[in-house]
Amino acid sequence: MIVFATSDKGGTGRSVTSCNLGYRLSSRGKRVAYLDFDFGSPTAGALFELGGYERGVPPERDRAGGAEQGLGLHSYLLGSATAAVRINVRDKTDREDMRRIRGRGGQLVLFPGDQGGGEFDRRNEPSVIDRCVRLLHAVDTEFDVSIIDLSAGRSIAMDIVLRATADNALSARTVRWLVFHRWTRQHIYAASSLVHGPHGLLECGVRAEHDRDELLNNIRFVRTAVPRVDRIRGGPAPQAAWLHGQERILNELAGEVRIGASTVLGTIPVEPMLQWREQLILDVDVQREIANSETVVAFDRLADGLLDPRTWRPLH
Ligand SMILES: Nc1ncnc2c1ncn2[C@@H]1O[C@H](COP(=O)(O)OP(=O)(O)OP(=O)(O)O)[C@@H](O)[C@H]1O
Ligand SMILES: [Mg+2]
Repeated sequence: MIVFATSDKGGTGRSVTSCNLGYRLSSRGKRVAYLDFDFGSPTAGALFELGGYERGVPPERDRAGGAEQGLGLHSYLLGSATAAVRINVRDKTDREDMRRIRGRGGQLVLFPGDQGGGEFDRRNEPSVIDRCVRLLHAVDTEFDVSIIDLSAGRSIAMDIVLRATADNALSARTVRWLVFHRWTRQHIYAASSLVHGPHGLLECGVRAEHDRDELLNNIRFVRTAVPRVDRIRGGPAPQAAWLHGQERILNELAGEVRIGASTVLGTIPVEPMLQWREQLILDVDVQREIANSETVVAFDRLADGLLDPRTWRPLH
């Protein structure tokens, strides 16, 4: 299964939620790949705490002693490297608690971008799309779940993968789209617009020759860092009443702009640990009472929903 993680805005929780989703899936024995397609900011290595790769694959001097060469996803897609670097997270992470349990669970492999790689607009080059098709085909063959973290917004990365997945070589593959957004007015409008609006996912998908209804059926929304209104106690009564009112208004708004409850794959609560640090939450963090168990439960539900074929029945 190929899973694209996208969001209209930056800082939504797309990467942190996706890497925790990947980790939960791998803990169940699934083989998971995580591809950093956030070309403008390839920092997935930091989430997995891979020393030296926090900002992507560092450049290497080539053998002739000449120019610096990258070996991450930028270099692979642009044709200067024949294969992209891959890192086995459970073996290489600096998190001792994770290395200690590395024997348990399936593979978790990161494909980082190039350090300082930057956005590139080569989407019209057939060779770039071709290399993307080959890469997605290869990871989907080797891994149970391949999560591709795209740049925020109507990005070049989004356009490249829409063109790649329209290719015949990938037509028989299972491809899902997760759109992440925070639980505020602006984020609700933005997430809806990314899918349904001009130059959005559906419009660009149809231009790349996807079937509109099929693409729409494979898109679900994930609400991130959602405050629990029912947990707010001790504040002034008018404040509590106002918050409850806003919660109702946001639910109505989400329904109106076609991202209501039936389109939602998961809701991740506000997690203090993640407010302070972008990282994986391990079971031991919950046992030590550093992380909230409900956050891990929410990640697990997201994993359940993703794998459950019933999730992906057409919405009416
Ligand atoms: N459930 C949560 N509770 C609290 N904070 C969260 C939660 N999820 C993510 N965050 C925090 O929100 C910030 C943004 O998250 P993240 O970097 O994953 O977003 P992003 O959408 O990938 O952003 P970018 O577009 O910059 O890549 C991070 O500091 C992260 O730790
Ligand atoms: Mg990110």
